[in-house]
Amino acid sequence: MNMKRSKVIGSEHVSDAANRGRRIIEVMPGDIVTAQARESAERLSIALLDGPLERPAVVRADGATAARRALYRRNPKWLAPSAARVPTGQRLRRVALVGAGGVGSNVAHLLANSAAADEIALIDITPGLAESVALDLNHASGITRTRTVASGGTQLSAVAGAQVIVVSAGRPRTPGMTRAALLDVNRRIIRATAEAIRVNAQNAVVIVVTNPLDEMTVEMLRATGFPRAQVLGMAGTLDSSRFRRALAEQAGVAVSDVEAIALGSHGDEMAPIVSGSKIRGRPVTEFLSPEAIDHCVTDAVTGGGQVVALRKTGSAVLAPAHAIVEVIDHMRGARAGAVPASVMLEGEYGIEGVVLGVPCHLGLGGLIEVVELSLSAAEHLQLKTAADAIRGRLG
Ligand code: LAC
Repeated sequence: MNMKRSKVIGSEHVSDAANRGRRIIEVMPGDIVTAQARESAERLSIALLDGPLERPAVVRADGATAARRALYRRNPKWLAPSAARVPTGQRLRRVALVGAGGVGSNVAHLLANSAAADEIALIDITPGLAESVALDLNHASGITRTRTVASGGTQLSAVAGAQVIVVSAGRPRTPGMTRAALLDVNRRIIRATAEAIRVNAQNAVVIVVTNPLDEMTVEMLRATGFPRAQVLGMAGTLDSSRFRRALAEQAGVAVSDVEAIALGSHGDEMAPIVSGSKIRGRPVTEFLSPEAIDHCVTDAVTGGGQVVALRKTGSAVLAPAHAIVEVIDHMRGARAGAVPASVMLEGEYGIEGVVLGVPCHLGLGGLIEVVELSLSAAEHLQLKTAADAIRGRLG
């Protein structure tokens, strides 16, 4: 029994069908086809066929296809958006991770599961640690089917052949400690690592994660003698993520609705940039009071310390690992746009000769260029204050 009401098929119906790539229109008994529709159909080579047409058996569809079909039935003018093209980026041959603790092992895990690299070399001074993480990760490949192969050892010379080297080795903070208090102890570790990199991996891009981040990035630059493009500090991606999450929580929106970045130092002089922060494309000031925004800024600045206070024996590892992979993904072209990273400034933002977190375009060779945002006068001053503080600490 056909309960369908007869319809008028006009020229608009024909051009809609043509726009969607249809070659035929089914004309049911009782339907009226206007003269203009017949003309259009002829012009557009669309056949008007008497229905009901025999239909092929319905193929079971996945959820997305079923939803598209339902939307189309509700309104035939609805056009399916073309599937988003996700850039996959270049696969790296070899990534070395100096430090196989919480950060290093989680970076290895994320990289292996995102098919970002063929080989991951884990290195840690603690005998057996890097080997155990590598073995553990390789054991998972029977399930994950990753093609990434991990190896582990204590020798820094295993950085040889790496395109990217992530350095997270060093003492973490203990509760109540500032990152700056780690300067002397971690400086020695960075210098030894830098020497091995200088000798074995002259073309690698080094991502420094060891704290105090900006100062250790300066140490890495000095000790390797590498050009600034090849030495990046990872902090801004992490601090920005914490800032976005705080804004989302305060505003009661999804974090994917928030755009915000944090620049400056990875410490007390961090500069979460309020002027450019947006929620659903509108200034955050339209959603949050100045007090609520201040709360979010403080939350970003103290986020790492909050984790240290809870863990008691070590710092955050999961968010930092994601932030490191985000930087690597920008380098290998799996992410578009600028990303905050700590780099040696050469006059950008009116600052020179010190490493500071700024938005950067990255490529396989590291830094491509620093992006100069227009900041408020207060934010600009915050960057200068951060630069002076880092200079002061380095002596
Ligand atoms: C943090 C450490 C990694 O911010 O500095 O969690």
